[in-house]
Amino acid sequence: MGREKITVIGAGNVGGTTAQRLVETGRYDVVLLDIVDGIPQGKSLDLMQAAPLVGSNGRIEGTMDYKVSAGSSLVVITSGVPRKPGMSREQLLETNARVVRDVAKQVAAVSPSAILIVVTNPLDAMTYVAHKVSKFPRERVMGMAGVLDSARLQSFIAAELKVSADSVQAMVIGGHGDQMVPLIRYTTVAGVPLSEWLPKERIDALVKRTQEGGAEVVSLLKTGSAYYAPSAAIVAMVDAIMLDSKKIMPCAALCRGEYGVDDLFVGVPAKLGRRGVEEIVRLSLTKDEQAALAKSAASVKELCALVDRYL
Ligand code: APR
Repeated sequence: MGREKITVIGAGNVGGTTAQRLVETGRYDVVLLDIVDGIPQGKSLDLMQAAPLVGSNGRIEGTMDYKVSAGSSLVVITSGVPRKPGMSREQLLETNARVVRDVAKQVAAVSPSAILIVVTNPLDAMTYVAHKVSKFPRERVMGMAGVLDSARLQSFIAAELKVSADSVQAMVIGGHGDQMVPLIRYTTVAGVPLSEWLPKERIDALVKRTQEGGAEVVSLLKTGSAYYAPSAAIVAMVDAIMLDSKKIMPCAALCRGEYGVDDLFVGVPAKLGRRGVEEIVRLSLTKDEQAALAKSAASVKELCALVDRYL
């Protein structure tokens, strides 16, 4: 049996770096697809030529043609435009909703059994678009945000305490961006609650930095947004799914009553395996955490109502 095929749509910063990380695992045949002729082909050729140096066996092909991606087991959607100065949130929403709509339609036609991981922002609404257009069951459509936000929080805590990042466990749920809900009660260092390691004002400062984590990178880069940590988060989800590991990771998943959220994609802890989101894991939340999640869900609902007119 050959290796399974994974397609990355959008060969920009996030898509290109994701393709690199995937091909370097040596576990997958990767297809990198974009609408700009030359970019996916050029990046793929470059990555192919790196294989003998990094000892990777993975294969990669760059293309503009969805037929090349046919029969993919998993498709990562990073295509879209970044928010430019002067562009309103609604304009970004409209442009990217149309992009994700067109992409999801073509992906569903050639890879009807694929699992979709959506990365394009605004994340929760774009995941809704991909689900609605593909008509895939909810297990097979999810968004990447919580894994990245949790990793950001973990890395800040590790730096503050001068411990290795993998000693830190964190779970950030809710919508992406300022809507995120970091579950500090469930954040631990070597299994010990964070509140025993740091005073409240330091924890609050690290949470704030996490909430503004994407913006902090943008303000430094000036010409784009983060892609190293996002692509690492995507590959962590891909591996959890493809290796059927049943890892519990926060993802934008379609809630049908879980956490009091009805028929909306919002970040929740999910058990990831070969079938996709195999279970939404229910953690008990405090009143405040539940209220923050409800607020997140309400704003996702508003965005989804706006994108409905472009579908
Ligand atoms: N089909 C395929 N590719 C497309 C399409 C489309 N319809 N429309 C745009 N693209 C491609 C662009 O040509 C570009 O190569 O998507 C790519 C986007 O890349 P970048 O502009 O570098 O953006 P990037 O930093 O990769 O971010 C992509 O991920 O984290 C999110 O907010 C981020 O929504 C953004 C997405």
